[in-house]
Amino acid sequence: MTQQVYANLGGVEESATLGMTRRAAELKAAGVPVISLSAGEPDFDTPGFIAEAGVEAIRDGQTHYPPAAGLMPLRAAVAAYLGRECGGAYTSDQVLVTVGAKQALFNAIFTLFGPGSRIVIPTPYWVSYPPIAHLARAVPVILETRAADGFKPDPDELAALFRSGARGLVLNSPSNPSGAVLSDAELDRIIAVAARHDAWIISDEIYHAIVYDTEHASVASRARDYERIILVNGFSKAFAMTGWRVGYAVGPSDVIAAMTRLQGHVNTNTALPCQYAALAALDQHAARDRAVKEMVSAFDRRRDLLLKGVSAIPGLTPYPPDGAFYLWIDAGPWCDSLGANSTGLCLDLLDNERLALVPGEAFGADRFVRLSFATTEEALTEALERLGKAAVRLGVG
Ligand SMILES: Cc1ncc(COP(=O)(O)O)c(C=O)c1O
Repeated sequence: MTQQVYANLGGVEESATLGMTRRAAELKAAGVPVISLSAGEPDFDTPGFIAEAGVEAIRDGQTHYPPAAGLMPLRAAVAAYLGRECGGAYTSDQVLVTVGAKQALFNAIFTLFGPGSRIVIPTPYWVSYPPIAHLARAVPVILETRAADGFKPDPDELAALFRSGARGLVLNSPSNPSGAVLSDAELDRIIAVAARHDAWIISDEIYHAIVYDTEHASVASRARDYERIILVNGFSKAFAMTGWRVGYAVGPSDVIAAMTRLQGHVNTNTALPCQYAALAALDQHAARDRAVKEMVSAFDRRRDLLLKGVSAIPGLTPYPPDGAFYLWIDAGPWCDSLGANSTGLCLDLLDNERLALVPGEAFGADRFVRLSFATTEEALTEALERLGKAAVRLGVG
């Protein structure tokens, strides 16, 4: 069969994280005992009170079209939540409810940028930012960060890119994959640089609730009077609700209205019962805070286990994450020993150790691998053993 060309998709390919997860699941289904540390989702069930609210909404006949921008009580609850948790002062008309944070990002980038617009994306970046920019016919401008800077963008280098014509920046703190968390002062400097050049900031704060011994700094409280900011967040990670598909974008009401028009023609809205589940997550503070705290302390224990284990394996340098649930590892010596890049290394580990990790190449950092600790301590312990065997097989150390 000849290769079909899909003009609007250009070179957009399957997400590397979803691809690796799918490959590992196929092997598992075929009976191969794969340990998958590739998934980007909490392994916990959605807290019971949230799931119940969704089921109750279905039973109550809440199964019709909601407004395109989302249920008004949910939009108000998001504004109130951002006020309480992130120090924001938003009104409901500044909130758009979306099908996960991913759609909020797509709607924001597609609405604000067009053919040839240059958008700065710092490395290591979440895999979907460049494809979303491409789909908007915009041009991703990759800004390399360094381990010595904690994988955070350098404000002077950012300013140079704005001076040479970039109009936007995608920020992600806590970061997937590096776990880097911007401080108030670091975020202030970045916002000041963007403001000097009238550039838009799309701030993806989907991991805001998952931080370790540090505080999450949000554009909600740091923006002050700079208006060219879209805050993106959602329910998937903090509340173990990946399959419910509820996220949101918050920003100037005219941009939110334009994004709502786009949404009205593309996916109409977010499923109504899921919006009721999300509303319960925001309204029932005490139950929610308890559930989040339990999940974060489980992540924290696994983080420690993994950091200690990976640090002891020759040729791997892990960077302690301050947030999210991934360990970002420099695996350069392993790549050198194998004579492959990070994708070759991950395929080798899948074939020989039955271990699924995500190659750094997918995040714009080719000598790294990302390991998710959203799985049990037993699986992590077994994964460490398999990594230990791989070190011997590859002759590193
Ligand atoms: C950094 C980042 N942003 C956005 C998303 C999308 O989240 P959602 O499930 O809300 O679409 C993810 C999911 O992996 C992510 O890691």
